[in-house]
Amino acid sequence: MLDFTESEIWDILRIAKRMKAHPERFRTRLRSKHLAMIFEKPSLRTRVTFEVGMRELGGDAVYLARSDINLGNRESVYDVAKNLERMVHGIMIRTFNHHICTDLAEFASVPVINGLTDLEHPCQALSDFFTIWETKQNMRAVKIGFVGDGNNVAHSLLLGAARLGLRLTVASPRGYQPKKDVVESALQEAGRSGAVLEVTDDAGRAVRDADFVYTDVWASMGQEGEAEERQKVFRPYQVNAALFSLAKPDAYFMHCLPARRGVEVTDDVIDSPNAIVFRQAENRLHVQKAILALVMR
Ligand code: CP
Ligand code: NVA
Repeated sequence: MLDFTESEIWDILRIAKRMKAHPERFRTRLRSKHLAMIFEKPSLRTRVTFEVGMRELGGDAVYLARSDINLGNRESVYDVAKNLERMVHGIMIRTFNHHICTDLAEFASVPVINGLTDLEHPCQALSDFFTIWETKQNMRAVKIGFVGDGNNVAHSLLLGAARLGLRLTVASPRGYQPKKDVVESALQEAGRSGAVLEVTDDAGRAVRDADFVYTDVWASMGQEGEAEERQKVFRPYQVNAALFSLAKPDAYFMHCLPARRGVEVTDDVIDSPNAIVFRQAENRLHVQKAILALVMR
């Protein structure tokens, strides 16, 4: 997330707005360009939005599953980078260890986009800021409350909010809070931007008077073995009608999806008119098209 300056993030958001309103104007922006998409974890939204996004910009995308390239086993990250840079104009990667993504970016001469790692999910956070912006315009005036696991999504929201000068409270159980070094970087950045950031274990504190209440799964991809244990620990962090009622009366509910209905969020909240989860999902398309157009020029 911090690879982008504040003004670069605003460029992405403004271009995404134009692309959403007038997709036809950008039909040849990435003509003859190709994106390799490496997926070591499953995906619905990321795969479809990057693939459709590339086609809508006049280019195309190649999907590479874990079973295809077996990164790091069949072939080293370095060798994969040195091959792909001669074949495509950009690489999107979804993987486990964040260093695989940064190593690929270091070795490859073409841009590398993080499509989710264990540490961060920046394309998601950028799309979410876009969704908040198109909902409320004055982003600095809103309170965002994230409730649940201090995971990759929480990390990117924290770092992005820090860069953009936003107000965000993250509530997670002790032992599951965002990583210390991420929080430290975010707080340092907040000193520059004026962001108001808080990490707490009190779910009510994050939700109270919030304009946007955000949650994500309690066990991320790769943590399936911990799911049962986490369900017990995270129980007080479920976004149900009672918790959601602490937010502003016109508050919006956000979730990056996929959601575990009845676990981190109840049906009455995610199906309520206040939920904007599917618009968040759609906005992945517009925001990632803007990112692709900017980095693959
Ligand atoms: N939100 C998100 O990244 O969804 P997918 O895992 O389906 O790509
Ligand atoms: N935190 C979740 C996000 C899924 C889009 C995960 O990493 O599985």
